[in-house]
Amino acid sequence: MKNPFVYGETVSGENFCNRTREIKELVADIINCQNVIIFSPRRYGKTSLIKQVLRKVKAKGILTFYIDLYPAINKRKFIEIYAGAISTGIPGGVRQIAKKIKEYLPRIIPKVVMDGQSVHFEFEFDRTLNISPHIDDLLVAVKKVADQKKKTAVVVFDEFQEIANFDDDEIERKMRSAFQNHRNISYIFMGSKTHLMRDIFNNPNRPFYKSGKHFPLDKIDQKELSLFAKKKFSDQNIVISRNELNSILNNTECHPYYFQMLCHVLWELCMGSRVITEADVDEALDILISRESSVYVAIWEELTIKQKNLMVALANEEYPEVFSKMFLETYGLGSSSSIQKALKRLVIKELVQQKNGSYVIYDLFFKKWIQCTW
Ligand SMILES: Nc1ncnc2c1ncn2[C@@H]1O[C@H](COP(=O)(O)OP(=O)(O)O)[C@@H](O)[C@H]1O
Ligand SMILES: [Mg+2]
Repeated sequence: MKNPFVYGETVSGENFCNRTREIKELVADIINCQNVIIFSPRRYGKTSLIKQVLRKVKAKGILTFYIDLYPAINKRKFIEIYAGAISTGIPGGVRQIAKKIKEYLPRIIPKVVMDGQSVHFEFEFDRTLNISPHIDDLLVAVKKVADQKKKTAVVVFDEFQEIANFDDDEIERKMRSAFQNHRNISYIFMGSKTHLMRDIFNNPNRPFYKSGKHFPLDKIDQKELSLFAKKKFSDQNIVISRNELNSILNNTECHPYYFQMLCHVLWELCMGSRVITEADVDEALDILISRESSVYVAIWEELTIKQKNLMVALANEEYPEVFSKMFLETYGLGSSSSIQKALKRLVIKELVQQKNGSYVIYDLFFKKWIQCTW
């Protein structure tokens, strides 16, 4: 029997919980060709949500293009990925798509790849050539498709903050100046590294300053998560009461990924009809943390002594005043300036995030592991 609680991949269909309000708002934005900046910490469900939205707007006749920039480690890779996404989003059969690619991206020669029953295009090009003309072609390609088809389009850039790692801001500048003339296209920029996303969109010196509607994605509503889990358990004849559901919600702070992860282990533990108890929730937590512990050890070993001490302090305090004398002295952390440096590194490593004016450990189970181990 397949575990109904899925984590570590995008979820859809019956594995997708709620988000009705967000879907409605984003569908309306796309219909209105509004540009939107969606940001949240990683694993809140951005990719799953936007894919759900794209399916809906595609059914309404809107052209959809999805570009995952996570692997875009340089400008050349960006071009290859973007070109691939354009070829996937062009409607029609292989011949028609190939013809259109030649028309819109005349300088790149695609490779046709057979993938089981389906066929897709991949793009590679001569590394000695100047890439700037390719960028110019690419940034107007979707506009040309939409104009020819007399349709509107949506282009999603997932993990958009990766463009900040390129050698220069050529792509960022060119994107902004091309996109602002594309009135029949909605551009969606999504990102997990909140500090980088903020800098791209809120810094007056950068091209994308004030270039779209901000859409901070929150966790999933607590009631909806409870209903979702209750139904999944009861489909397998497992009974879970309010008390135990609340315990799961508390232990995972309604974080969609951690919620699914804990339910996943709990489901394994309680398979075969029975009632879930508080002791089962505790046992599932122990199993989960011990399964993840090798990952935690690897992360831990990469930290400096100062960072380790700071992580222990953060794991043991709820919203501490990190620069207060008491906090620094209680945990033997030294001066506030050296803590500032350690905190900055931990935020960049995405182990710690700013919350309610303080700093908290991002991974709830890592936090529990630190509490138990150190
Ligand atoms: N709407 C949802 N319903 C159920 N689970 C979800 C939902 N959104 C996110 N999740 C859980 O969180 C995990 C991460 O989701 P993902 O869409 O990859 O997040 P992000 O793109 O923000 O990193 C999924 O694998 C799933 O376990
Ligand atoms: Mg994602």
